[in-house]
Amino acid sequence: MKNKSLISIHDLSKEEIYEILDLAEKFEQKPKQRILRDYIVATLFFEPSTRTRLSFESAANQLGARIIGFSDASNSSVQKGESLKDTIMTVSLYSDIIVMRHPIEGSARLASEVSDVPIINAGDGANQHPTQCLLDLYSIRKTQGTLDNLNIALVGDLKYGRTVHSLVEAMCKFNATFHLVSPDILKLPSSVKQHIKDAHLKYEQYTDLEDVTDKVDILYMTRIQRERFSEPMEYERVKNAYILHNNMLDNSKPNLRVLHPMPRVNEINEDVDCNPKAYYFQQALNGVYVRQALLSNMLGVEPENK
Ligand code: CP
Repeated sequence: MKNKSLISIHDLSKEEIYEILDLAEKFEQKPKQRILRDYIVATLFFEPSTRTRLSFESAANQLGARIIGFSDASNSSVQKGESLKDTIMTVSLYSDIIVMRHPIEGSARLASEVSDVPIINAGDGANQHPTQCLLDLYSIRKTQGTLDNLNIALVGDLKYGRTVHSLVEAMCKFNATFHLVSPDILKLPSSVKQHIKDAHLKYEQYTDLEDVTDKVDILYMTRIQRERFSEPMEYERVKNAYILHNNMLDNSKPNLRVLHPMPRVNEINEDVDCNPKAYYFQQALNGVYVRQALLSNMLGVEPENK
């Protein structure tokens, strides 16, 4: 992937996915190594973030890189009316790689077309979140021992959840069976469902979470994305559609793990946190290793222990 941008999970072959996950394992064994001390990483966040921005910055810091950027575009010249194109062309003069999150779908692709340095899409609207997808895959492989032939339930906002869109596309490469749990108005978009159909894989749609808890290996909970709704009343109607409680896992498979890209609002009750099947905080930590793997791979720098 050296000098290539990462805009969609679709950009990666199965072999490239395995390469990143294997590299992330090496960084998990030795996360602090100053192999990127000659590099500058720019993080441009036009939308709020805790995990993605800070795990990228932690990853870069632990590898000795320096970091520039903003976490709030209102403190940048965007506030004065500067275009995304001009912003990216400028920051690409100051940095070796750009990590960006933006509310508009396709913005990362546009950025990659005008940038002299690789762009990493850290989320573009409701479209894609490929680095989250890679850490989700890392977490799934680590907990299940494989990515192949798994039953995965995706629960909540399947319409606007960009992490869901990326993960469905990725799991189509690994012969998954999909259990899609959502309110009627938040079903998986047909364009994403088409990937499942094209791969000739099985999927079922449900409205009741308890119909799937005893069937699956991975229970991937998601937040209802309030910021994507044009009608606040519609959000109010579905905001509490799914709340996972600890006792709902009583009959789940022994290998089941609960994942969530986070942040959660109330879709996983805190009584689940002490259940050994809860994996969402470890999942967030895995983001550091996966992002170390991405930064080093895209900048063409080998880890010390490779
Ligand atoms: N998973 C994720 O994208 O979290 P943040 O919005 O906190 O970055």
